[in-house]
Amino acid sequence: MCGIVGYTGNHSAVTPVIEGLRRLEYRGYDSAGIAIPTQPGQPLFIKKRSGKLKKLEEALGKTPTTSSGIGHTRWATHGGPTDTNAHPHLDNEGNLALIHNGIIENYEQLRAELEKRGHKFKSETDTESVVHLLSEARKENNGDLAAAMRQVCRQLKGSFTLLAIHSDKPTHIVGARRNSPLVVGLGTNENFLASDVAAFISHTKKALELGQDQVVEITPNSVVITNLDGTEVQGKEYEISWDASAAERGGFSHFMLKEIYEQPKAISDTLIGRLSDLDLKIKFKKINKIVIIACGTAYNAGLVGKYAIEKCGGIPVDVELASEYRYREPSLDEKTLVIPISQSGETMDTLMALRYAKSKGAKILSVCNTNGSTIARESDSVLYTHAGPEIAVASTKAFATQLVAMYLIGLEIGRKLNTLTKREIDVICEELNQLPAKVEQILETVEPLRETTRKFKSAESILFLGRHVGYPTALEGALKLKELAYMHAEGFAGGELKHGPIALIDKGTPVIAIMPSQDSLLAEKMSSNIQEVKARGAIVIVISEHEFSGADYLIRIPKVTQLMQPVLAVVPLQVIAYEMAVVRGNDVDQPRNLAKSVTVE
Ligand code: M6R
Repeated sequence: MCGIVGYTGNHSAVTPVIEGLRRLEYRGYDSAGIAIPTQPGQPLFIKKRSGKLKKLEEALGKTPTTSSGIGHTRWATHGGPTDTNAHPHLDNEGNLALIHNGIIENYEQLRAELEKRGHKFKSETDTESVVHLLSEARKENNGDLAAAMRQVCRQLKGSFTLLAIHSDKPTHIVGARRNSPLVVGLGTNENFLASDVAAFISHTKKALELGQDQVVEITPNSVVITNLDGTEVQGKEYEISWDASAAERGGFSHFMLKEIYEQPKAISDTLIGRLSDLDLKIKFKKINKIVIIACGTAYNAGLVGKYAIEKCGGIPVDVELASEYRYREPSLDEKTLVIPISQSGETMDTLMALRYAKSKGAKILSVCNTNGSTIARESDSVLYTHAGPEIAVASTKAFATQLVAMYLIGLEIGRKLNTLTKREIDVICEELNQLPAKVEQILETVEPLRETTRKFKSAESILFLGRHVGYPTALEGALKLKELAYMHAEGFAGGELKHGPIALIDKGTPVIAIMPSQDSLLAEKMSSNIQEVKARGAIVIVISEHEFSGADYLIRIPKVTQLMQPVLAVVPLQVIAYEMAVVRGNDVDQPRNLAKSVTVE
């Protein structure tokens, strides 16, 4: 979704603002803009362009050297991605600029009222209503922009991160947040506001969390946070645990490829110190049902979590699409443990499902990759995955660590409820410890797979088959291919094939089958499924830990217990999707229409 950056300090603001926007590019966007004060009381310097940041930079020309400014990358919701709809938006004097992430639900009513009072609108956005409202409120509050922002936020419905700057007080930047991320970066004689710490990580590793419905005013040497009623509050300060190089490509052609190769480290970082005790603040003895809520890739990790937690902990687990959950009024109470899984910790669908569950008394244990994110802060307990920053829109290393988190939770419940024997616990721990080396082994031998992938670049559709935990792995493989290659792809449970999907198989249809571990009974069943599709003309690529003569192409992965196979089997699937995007000339790191952090419902 939109990227937001504000800088006030002692350097010309253009560089840190543009650099910050570049570091937020991964969030997905379709236009960009910047506002810099010129002279106190004079109209601001504004430049906005639809398209990529490069187009904005080319259009910048001579910029003011003022040491404060705000910048925005927009992911269009209200009004198409045009120069006019791009942010910042201005008041009618041109002295007040505003940028926004989220959706203002009552913007139409506000706009009608503002137009009646003489405000002239230029764009189709919901945001523009807010800047006119803020302009009025600022006058009513004798030029106090923070007070004006509090007044405006009290009138807004929806979700938002807002940042505003006025030419009268050019060193002051005012921000606000509701259900949308905003963090403060604390520098020396300079401060930042951004939707993500990545925007200022090369300047400072000190950050400050903002709570829900809070307004912040920064100058180069001060940060003042208030609730909407004006009472001052302290933000929670924390140290960012990764450095700028983690958010750079480091010699790889794309972030996605780098992140695929970072999986062994991400898995081992997520395991470190977690195998003997997770120290979760949850009383598992009081829990009789677990519900995992998540979206996209995180949902697929949750599906694997169901197998792991039920097998190890014996508690029934449901896995729900977060976007559907609260609307069907599910039955849940204080004996229900809800596990939201989210890389960003900001996904609105997941957050809303979490809040619904909380309101019904359920306990919340979230699995998040982003320190201090909204989902993490609103949970009773958090199990952080340590994947590091994931920049590519398509999730890879975050998925691997979410799977590990599922096994860790299963292990923890098994240990606390004595549903696992000491021997079983030892075996699981040993298997988990071996995962990083086994993923490494796959990555060392993945090159021929890239060549094989290129043979299918013109396929109309690719189908994925799996059984047991191989089924969610197949779903993840298909999701990756859709996102990156823009090809039709679908994942099926092998046993379901004969109930309908087999009609899709035609001569030459590529089918990617994930063979269950040899020691599981399901290997034979999958073998039959492969024969069934081959008999109808499919070309079959088999991912297997053992030799399999029925494959047109065989991709070998190391042997591992069936439950943990997704961590290994997904790696070739990620590589296939990656290579397919490259060979089809697609934007690998920022696939069309997608955003990294989906902060609208
Ligand atoms: O940040 P989250 O894990 O909550 O994001 C959930 C989905 O939006 C995300 O996994 C999405 O499906 C990815 N683009 C998948 O590659």
